[in-house]
Amino acid sequence: MHITFADTLPTDAALIASIANKDSLPDGIAPVLAEGARRARFKGSPGQVVDGFVEHEGKVVRVALAGAGDPGAKDRRANLEKAGGALAAKFLTSGEESLALDLTNSSLSADDAAAVLLGLRLRAWRWDEYRTTQKDAEKVSLKGVVVVGAPEGIDAAWAREGALAEGVEFTKELVTLPANVLYPESFVERCRKALEGTGIEITVLDDAEMEKLGMGALLGVGQGSERPSRILAMKWNGGEANAKPTLLVGKGVTFDSGGISIKPGAGMEDMKWDMGGAGAVAGTMVALAKRKAKANVIGVCGLVENMPDGKAQRPGDVVTTMSGQTVEVINTDAEGRLVLCDALHWAQEEYKPAAVVDLATLTGAMLIALGHEQAGLFSNDDTLAGNLSTAGQTSGDKVWRMPIGPAYDKLIDSPIADMKNVGPREAGSITAAQFLKRFIKDGTPWAHLDIAGMAWSNKPGATWGKGATGYGVRLLDQYVRDVLEG
Ligand code: BES
Ligand code: MN
Ligand code: ZN
Repeated sequence: MHITFADTLPTDAALIASIANKDSLPDGIAPVLAEGARRARFKGSPGQVVDGFVEHEGKVVRVALAGAGDPGAKDRRANLEKAGGALAAKFLTSGEESLALDLTNSSLSADDAAAVLLGLRLRAWRWDEYRTTQKDAEKVSLKGVVVVGAPEGIDAAWAREGALAEGVEFTKELVTLPANVLYPESFVERCRKALEGTGIEITVLDDAEMEKLGMGALLGVGQGSERPSRILAMKWNGGEANAKPTLLVGKGVTFDSGGISIKPGAGMEDMKWDMGGAGAVAGTMVALAKRKAKANVIGVCGLVENMPDGKAQRPGDVVTTMSGQTVEVINTDAEGRLVLCDALHWAQEEYKPAAVVDLATLTGAMLIALGHEQAGLFSNDDTLAGNLSTAGQTSGDKVWRMPIGPAYDKLIDSPIADMKNVGPREAGSITAAQFLKRFIKDGTPWAHLDIAGMAWSNKPGATWGKGATGYGVRLLDQYVRDVLEG
């Protein structure tokens, strides 16, 4: 969605929208629209939209109001995004080609206005490349938004939120692409392209290098696939030269068939988005680099395809991780932790981070526990956990803290190796987190986000249509703003 700014309303504006707070209409809106809003029980609640046609200087003009709720609300930012998102949802395929967003009497700050635009742009994102026979009514008609009367400071605010939008869109693209298009090597190439010219330094490890480093767990997952595995590291040095970096690590299983412990056929297509953690990490790096964040952040993606061919690993195999710890692979479908443990260990050795946050579509149990509302947060550090929770509240990418502890850890002890890759069915998300924790260096603050319920949605949301949500990018970007730049 193309967003531009203008001083005055375009003379040919056919669709003009304004933002209304709870129980108050903006000054100077057409009396017909004010009456229409009352008649339609428009209260200015977040995401509520009313629209109608008026005659203006001999032309038919469509006018609309979107609600942004209470200006003092704790989730004000999310509500402003909802207002923008609701306009995009309403008019994207409405037949209207351009929307003039009139903020002249809106009382929004520059940050508020930028949040509205972020919501608008994110909700307007679609992936239509593979749809060659769209019906007219399904086709996107809305091509651009002209913002009029934007508050002072909008340029800086939108430079920041626009960069964030690019990051979220990149994540959505990666998550949406099918596994015949997106596999470890093509994931890397797409990231290279997205980050070209940003100053991000890229390092890639191929199978041979990972073999040399002893990454038996990650390579074990990839060995049943024709597609070679990769580790991708993206280094952004926008902060003080000597400040230790924050490390983001993502699970990038570009397709999870389950391997020899193969998944049932129904719903297996969903496992193209089993790289949602890596997708969120890559999108965050795009956002941070494009807005030139004053922070040192390194994004690392463990990229593999989990397939069951004649060379695939078997249940019962014992693999040796780069850390030296051995793992009995009870279930080849619990592959995410096998990928992450080597990626986590390597990245901690390589970058000596101040803190580590990993993101993964790790367990179905997480989605059973928290549904599609919040990601599970597991952490060995209360400060890090608190900061991520706060960033979740502010950004709308919510997290809920889950317990960890020695009693859960015991459940993954193995009689033949240092650990097994699954525990009992109970507490499945927690034992997965305990597995990862065994690869975190003592004293390093670490948080694990299980985003299995969050990366994809079969229902449209405030900032996405059906499908990829872009979850995680706004959360991590907000964390960087609050903690590393604040
Ligand atoms: N990628 C899946 C988890 C998943 C399931 C993500 C549904 C999103 C939606 C993961 O690799 C997996 O298969 N986990 C198993 C673990 C089990 C074998 C211990 C699961 O959750 O069933
Ligand atoms: Mn799996
Ligand atoms: Zn998986």
